[in-house]
Amino acid sequence: MQTIQLTIITDQTDTILPSNLSDKPPRIATMHSYLLLASLLGLASAAPTSSTDIPRQWTPQEPGSIPRHSGARGFRLRVNVTDPSLDLTPPVHNLFLSTAHIGPAQNRAIVSYSGPIFYQNGSYSDIANYRAGILTDAGPPESPFPEAIQYQQGSDDTKGSELFINAGTPGAGTAISKLTMPYSTLQILEGAPIVKSFIVCGNTTIPYYGESRKFEVVNWLGATRDSTGTHLRVPEGCVAVNLVPECAYEFVDLPEGAAYDRTFVNDVRCYESVAAIDWSKYAY
Ligand SMILES: *[C@@H]1O[C@H](CO)[C@@H](O)[C@H](O)[C@H]1NC(C)=O
Ligand SMILES: *[C@@H]1O[C@H](CO)[C@@H](O)[C@H](O)[C@H]1NC(C)=O
Ligand SMILES: *[C@@H]1O[C@H](CO)[C@@H](O)[C@H](O)[C@H]1NC(C)=O
Repeated sequence: MQTIQLTIITDQTDTILPSNLSDKPPRIATMHSYLLLASLLGLASAAPTSSTDIPRQWTPQEPGSIPRHSGARGFRLRVNVTDPSLDLTPPVHNLFLSTAHIGPAQNRAIVSYSGPIFYQNGSYSDIANYRAGILTDAGPPESPFPEAIQYQQGSDDTKGSELFINAGTPGAGTAISKLTMPYSTLQILEGAPIVKSFIVCGNTTIPYYGESRKFEVVNWLGATRDSTGTHLRVPEGCVAVNLVPECAYEFVDLPEGAAYDRTFVNDVRCYESVAAIDWSKYAY
């Protein structure tokens, strides 16, 4: 496999946090090296193919040029099909990221009509070192346990690689994009390989559920599918999506005696209603 050389570019607009704060939870999620990703992705000029645009670099603009947002600790992740003309049959635009329960370390990310509440967990140093995670509470309400969004090179390369929501270590670099980006979306800011786009693939079987049940699964494309430098080849039967946080204020405290706590849960930038955003009003 190809090795990807990373150069960390510090975003000067971010406050560099003193190390003696590193055990405190940040109140607003920020990622220092978003510009790394933006600059890696925004290099070349357009060469049209049947594929998806890689996000361009963006500098903060006047208020009103981006959708109005709020802040919350809990959020659901809405599937946003970035080119609606390519949506699947049946459509997946504005559905939610959810999970197909299979068993330990195998719960696949899927699309559903409702989705669990996620949250971003990590200290300042976790965030600076790409070790924050996007988590959700699983299990019965009286004895919950955390599950994290995870990714790894999947076996089915024809449809991208698989995304999981499992107990265990969060996927490195998984975070809600920082405040200097135009839109708030789920991003994977570092990892091997680099995740360049999420995709949803229709009519997919998951072995545990047998051959007859079909899912819309959420997969991802890595750097190896980067054909031209600006466009990714989206596999047949799949569509490029962003996962956009919708504020979930009903995010609850954990029961007494839970094995983990909310100390390091971050506020993230989220939207009141993703489906209500008229994206055509925004220039990006
Ligand atoms: C959401 O999808 C619309 C198209 O329906 C697109 O214009 C917009 O840029 C997308 N936003 C994000 C954050 O992906
Ligand atoms: C949240 O982050 C803190 C700080 O790194 C860590 O100690 C804790 O285990 C994390 N919580 C979960 C549920 O992973
Ligand atoms: C899934 O299968 C149905 C029925 O065969 C078909 O109509 C639909 O277009 C397929 N969707 C995708 C995304 O492949």
